[in-house]
Amino acid sequence: MKSIKKIGVLTSGGDAPGMNAAIRAVVRACVYHTVECVGIYRGYQGLIEGDFKKLDARSVKNIINRGGTFLKSARSKEFMTAQGRKKAFDNLTNENIDAMVVIGGDGTFAGASVFINEFDFPIVGLPGTIDNDINGTDFTIGYDTALNTVVEAIDKIRDTANSHNRLFLVEVMGRDAGDIALNAGIGAGAEEILIPEQNMGRERLLESLSRSKKSGKTSSIVVVSEGDQIGKNIFELATYIEENLKEYEVRVTVLGHIQRGGSPSCYDRVLASRLGVGAIDALLGDEKNVMIGIVHNKVTSVPFSETMKGTNEIDVDLIRVADIISI
Ligand code: F6P
Repeated sequence: MKSIKKIGVLTSGGDAPGMNAAIRAVVRACVYHTVECVGIYRGYQGLIEGDFKKLDARSVKNIINRGGTFLKSARSKEFMTAQGRKKAFDNLTNENIDAMVVIGGDGTFAGASVFINEFDFPIVGLPGTIDNDINGTDFTIGYDTALNTVVEAIDKIRDTANSHNRLFLVEVMGRDAGDIALNAGIGAGAEEILIPEQNMGRERLLESLSRSKKSGKTSSIVVVSEGDQIGKNIFELATYIEENLKEYEVRVTVLGHIQRGGSPSCYDRVLASRLGVGAIDALLGDEKNVMIGIVHNKVTSVPFSETMKGTNEIDVDLIRVADIISI
């Protein structure tokens, strides 16, 4: 085995609060182990273009509290091509980089897996996405902050919903995963939560809203995950509800990218720090082709092949809790 003297770090895909804290931990763990660290800017695209900068312990000062990623991020189409990946490998070789830490979501890990198979290059991943849709970790970096952002926003929406006796449909992110919707929905006291993992159907939603009205509720919040079947066109859903339940005046709020920004929560900062140190421990311990995650509050590693989405199931107990407490 070639000993690791220089490690590159990049962030890829959608940014997430806590990515900076993760980079900081990676850089400082490298310094601790007397390994050089190189920042690769703009994800795999910067890797292809050789956008590198040496990082030391002081390069990452004052960033643990900052949202976004100072290394910047991109979704690189060129890295999906064999020529793009060859350019990336040549840049790593010319720069004498022996291994990489990639921080991102399942797309980032899919790219890493292909690259490892082609060039036998050691890579370890960290789960950085607000969606919490990665198998092999209980939590992804950025998810907790996004939940808090959503709950804070819905608390504000509830004030105006109450004042006007209105029904609000609030669309949240999460791609094909309902984790943000379900947990933020419970935390914000939503009346209904629409998630892709459990197709409720428009009729059942109407029945439920009708029951709510009869039980004395004057305003309501429905949290709609962007990937949910009936919520896919949230404005159409609003019209459908108004046409079928005349007693409701409906408004729509799409929270959008506000969910990706902001100062990371303490939980995300600590998680990112633990996983960043774990990534360097793993690489120096000769692990590769794995993601470092957190399972039952223990730092663990899982092969990239197991992290791909579709296997991270929603907690059915939470759905039950949401149903009971929204009566
Ligand atoms: O994966 C993170 C995420 O914010 C998803 O929740 C959302 O569907 C997507 O990225 C949005 O991507 P973009 O920033 O490219 O519009």
